[in-house]
Amino acid sequence: MGMTKADRRMDGWADGAALLALLLLSAYPPIRLSAQDTTAGRAVYEKWCAGCHGETGAGDGPAAGTMLPRPRDFTGAIYQIRTTASGQLPTDDDLRLAIDRGLPGTAMPGWKDQLSERDRRDVLAYLKTFSAFFADTTQRPEPLVFGKEPGGGTSVDALRIGRQFYDSIGCRKCHGDRGRGDGPSAPTLKDDAGFPVFAANLTENWRFNGGSEVADIYRRLRSGLDGTPMPSFSDLIDQQFLTEAELWRLAQYVRSLSPARPPEVRDVIHARQVAARLPTSPDDSVWGRVERYWVPLVGQVMRKSRWFTPAASGVWVQAVHDGQQLALRVSWDDRSQSPDSAWLEFTDRVLETVARDDSTPPAPTPWPDQLAVQFPLAIPEGFERPFFLMGAATRPVYQWRWTSTPGGVREDSLSAAVAGLARGIDRFDPLPGTPLSAQAVYDQGEWRVVFSRSLATADTANQLHLRTGRAIPVAFFAWDGSNGETGTRMAVSTWYFLALDTPVRAQVFVSPILAAALALGLGLTLVRRAQRPRSQIRRRSDA
Ligand code: HEC
Ligand code: HEC
Repeated sequence: MGMTKADRRMDGWADGAALLALLLLSAYPPIRLSAQDTTAGRAVYEKWCAGCHGETGAGDGPAAGTMLPRPRDFTGAIYQIRTTASGQLPTDDDLRLAIDRGLPGTAMPGWKDQLSERDRRDVLAYLKTFSAFFADTTQRPEPLVFGKEPGGGTSVDALRIGRQFYDSIGCRKCHGDRGRGDGPSAPTLKDDAGFPVFAANLTENWRFNGGSEVADIYRRLRSGLDGTPMPSFSDLIDQQFLTEAELWRLAQYVRSLSPARPPEVRDVIHARQVAARLPTSPDDSVWGRVERYWVPLVGQVMRKSRWFTPAASGVWVQAVHDGQQLALRVSWDDRSQSPDSAWLEFTDRVLETVARDDSTPPAPTPWPDQLAVQFPLAIPEGFERPFFLMGAATRPVYQWRWTSTPGGVREDSLSAAVAGLARGIDRFDPLPGTPLSAQAVYDQGEWRVVFSRSLATADTANQLHLRTGRAIPVAFFAWDGSNGETGTRMAVSTWYFLALDTPVRAQVFVSPILAAALALGLGLTLVRRAQRPRSQIRRRSDA
């Protein structure tokens, strides 16, 4: 709705008669609240917001303790999503945008589809009563003038200029060379309240708090994310270090680090059959031609100790086989090559901050990074699969586990990867002498691990016999040691399918898999919804 200048001007009209007239004319509740309007906004707030933001708006609702970043403390009136200068209040339009869209990448959901327009206006007005700053009518927030985005934003020249300023302004100190949030300052970052905060991963723009597109990014660069270490760069324009047009180029460069569209989630991971040698190295050029599948991960919140704030938001999976062997590559962003003692203080702060359901926080240790790929012990005939969360004592699952510190999985093992049986979330029994190999590289904030194993196995009692042309259930788990993730504190996926395609009779084999996937589609969606935090559900349905 086009409620912009006129409404803001309205805020300043203190005269009761004028207000009443406007109220009757526009049905828009003015910000100088009548008792009745406060009541309406308050009712909405108490029902939908107080659980996180707290009754008094201090950001300390009953659910707040599990969240990082924490829900906003409205009493401080410090806001991220602004079109105003750093240190200024947001405009009503800014607040409206934050409430409508939510803050992607955090627990803050968007409310556009959940609440009526009237409820959203009322609650916005009520939010402002938590801080006296909004009552001061001599300090109306003034939006910055942003100018227009220069064209040609995806051209080589534009991106080169953008990259130049990315380096010279020092974005990489926090965000890292490739933008994965792994810069040298990253382990030291805290927000104004002293909570640990990650430098945003600039390759996942769908998780930017203030929106994913060039104009959103540009606004954040001009306004900063107040309350966090992310500064405003408007002063660099004032100091003529760069022009507005050049800052736009920087925003265009940042946008170019993410894919054109957020990755799409598909149920079946296809492994093509290749005649050539299988790529066993993570950086084999063959991987550049193998399709990638995005598998989203969420915190493990079903079993104690639960984990609400996992570092990894998903993994990319690629697979090829040659009829004898399977090569499976998993790549995921991780800001730290754990164990890394530079992150130990950060780990400590995370564990101190995020409530766990066991009473004493574990002493922070430089834990390794880990990954698990999970299959059932045998390919199921029907749709029944073991419990996705690492099976059960009576029904184990077959897993490949990789760790960044070989020997961390099994003292006597020199291999970084080991196959074994998980019998529930806290019991993993390695299978000695299994023919599984793995190679890993850590590169600029990303792990790439290739697992290789023969399709067939003689030990079908303990190991999965991989077969072509079947829908093989598969699931993934990731741990970022520097984020305090070990044991049950991890990121999990639900079941997906791996299909080892065959070139000759592709048609014959693909269709039963598709049929199975279709039949399962609904079940999968429900499982995923149950696993996914509310904010993500809403964001997907927004898209
Ligand atoms: C599930 C928890 C949760 C609920 C429910 C919730 N919020 Fe939030 N909200 C958050 C978190 C977490 C943040 C801070 C995110 C950050 O700092 O990046 C936040 C931030 C905000 C912000 C700050 C935006 C900015 O520019 O900094 C506003 C405004 C806000 N919430 C409004 C609301 C309103 C209004 C409701 C109810 C209709 C609501 N929230 C319900 C978790 C929640
Ligand atoms: C001192 C460290 C630091 C520097 C320097 C820094 N950033 Fe950030 N940046 C952060 C942090 C921390 C966040 C995440 C804040 C949060 O999670 O709320 C962030 C978030 C962002 C975001 C996401 C915005 C959103 O809507 O969520 C973008 C884009 C970004 N930075 C770009 C840049 C660019 C471009 C530069 C250089 C001009 C830069 N940053 C310099 C620390 C920094």
